[in-house]
Amino acid sequence: MKEKIAQLISNNVEGIEMSDIIASIEIPPRPDMGDFAFPCFRLAKVLRKAPNMIAADIKEAIGDVDFIEKIDVAGAYLNFYIKKDVFVKTMIEAANTDDFGKSDIGEGQTICIDYSSPNVAKNFHVGHLRTTIIGNSLYKIHSKLGYNVVRINHLGDWGTQFGKLIVAYKAWGSKEAVEKDGISELMKLYVKFHEEADKNPELVDEARAWFNKMENGDEEALSIWQWFKDISLVEYKRTYNLLGMDFDYYLGESFYRDKCQAVVDKVKAAGLLKESEGAMIVDLSDYDMAPCIITKKDGSSIYATRDLAAIFYRKDTYHFSKCLYVTGQEQKLHFAQVFKVVELLGNEWAKDQLVHIPYGLVSLEGAKLSTRSGNIIYAEDILKDAIAKSLEIITEKSPNLPNKEDVAKKVGVGAVLFNDLYNQRIKDVSFSWDKVLNFDGETGPYVQYTHARCCSVVRLAESFDPSKPVNYSLITEQDAIELLKEINRFPSVIKDAADKYEPSVVARYAVDVAQAFNKFYNSTRINVDDVELKNARVMLTYLTKNTISEALNLLGIEAPEAM
Ligand code: ARG
Repeated sequence: MKEKIAQLISNNVEGIEMSDIIASIEIPPRPDMGDFAFPCFRLAKVLRKAPNMIAADIKEAIGDVDFIEKIDVAGAYLNFYIKKDVFVKTMIEAANTDDFGKSDIGEGQTICIDYSSPNVAKNFHVGHLRTTIIGNSLYKIHSKLGYNVVRINHLGDWGTQFGKLIVAYKAWGSKEAVEKDGISELMKLYVKFHEEADKNPELVDEARAWFNKMENGDEEALSIWQWFKDISLVEYKRTYNLLGMDFDYYLGESFYRDKCQAVVDKVKAAGLLKESEGAMIVDLSDYDMAPCIITKKDGSSIYATRDLAAIFYRKDTYHFSKCLYVTGQEQKLHFAQVFKVVELLGNEWAKDQLVHIPYGLVSLEGAKLSTRSGNIIYAEDILKDAIAKSLEIITEKSPNLPNKEDVAKKVGVGAVLFNDLYNQRIKDVSFSWDKVLNFDGETGPYVQYTHARCCSVVRLAESFDPSKPVNYSLITEQDAIELLKEINRFPSVIKDAADKYEPSVVARYAVDVAQAFNKFYNSTRINVDDVELKNARVMLTYLTKNTISEALNLLGIEAPEAM
């Protein structure tokens, strides 16, 4: 419809490109101001005329058009009022397709997303839950736009901490305890190491020696490390399963251990490698940043070295047009340094192809979450708590629902995800059960509940067949039109979310659609005797259901059909 209006304007005015017209057409803030508005300020310069006069001229030139009710000149604006039935028909037909919202703007381009990436032998905590949820949603949003997305889990599985763990395990650990308690036991050993090392600093040298052994391929060291990693992965995958999420590659830091020397060589060849207190660095003072350390005193690689190696590996392997990194904002400097070094090595593309996507903290005040030991909160426990609490609520609200457990899983997990995604990612998130599981607020359960309500309306309307056109002229109520307009925003919402790397745009949209539907539902009877009228209203309900379920899907959330 927007394009049709743009075409009309384009046919009747000189000096402006069609694409510029499309870009300047606005949706007025209030329905009484028309369905589309075209501001004429820009044309004023080209045509050397006052914008309101230009508006009047264009109106005059367009004259009568079959699909337009009227055109008003309002100051510098031209307001277009589309004939309701034509507008309704266009909007319904656009939304009533299997691939509504899909696009091919990303076709032929690959986007790598580096997210989740927990640190082996450490618990998968709420911070990692956020990167996982945001990264997964960015994966879905970009896939919807036709990009080829590579999901990479850059596990923290290399570094001196493993030397410490091996020392601790050998001194105070047991196979049985590690097998029984997994990561919790490994974390205890790690804490124990630091307590003991305070008293006996030699332990630190021992740990360094073990990590050195790892770096030199020592079999015993590597097999203990691999075992710790396997045990950790079992736990992480349990969490991913609960979330219904997956990765294309688990390529942790250890994968790059034999690729770090090449990085050092590159940096050296470019004349950027400098010695500083025994370490080798790239000086970034020209860019107002602390130096990027390439190798430590003992020659070993660090986090940044492995990130540099990973960038070159990914560029060569996947030929990405973007590589996104979803981590907490405290890693801002780290990525700025690493990206700068890549650029200084003669890779101009680093400037816009490497993107850090930071997010804010999660605070758990007053949330009373279950903890395993030492007040450590595992993401898995939050999800399980959410499922259990959802089951209680659902059992109370809908005692006769057949598959309560399954629904509770979708609602509980969805509630946690939605809470994480609803606000701009850079903002801190506060977590309280009352808020997360509120069925009436701007929450996951509210949106899911609205979806289930739509499903039930559609289910009960036996006369309705979504593949048959309805009588468009019967949709006249303002609430119905507003709902349709909301639904039709979906494609541009997805693009906007991708442009900003901001799943919250989709989450907010899901709430907007749910609210628009509930307004319509409360003001307009759907189940009326007149079959034609009923089918027309059910059509809106059907489109709402599809749009909500797809919006939730883009957030990684499932939409139960009843709850
Ligand atoms: N393992 C890191 C952490 O838990 C996150 C890794 C992010 N990705 C990267 N390529 N550095 O903080």
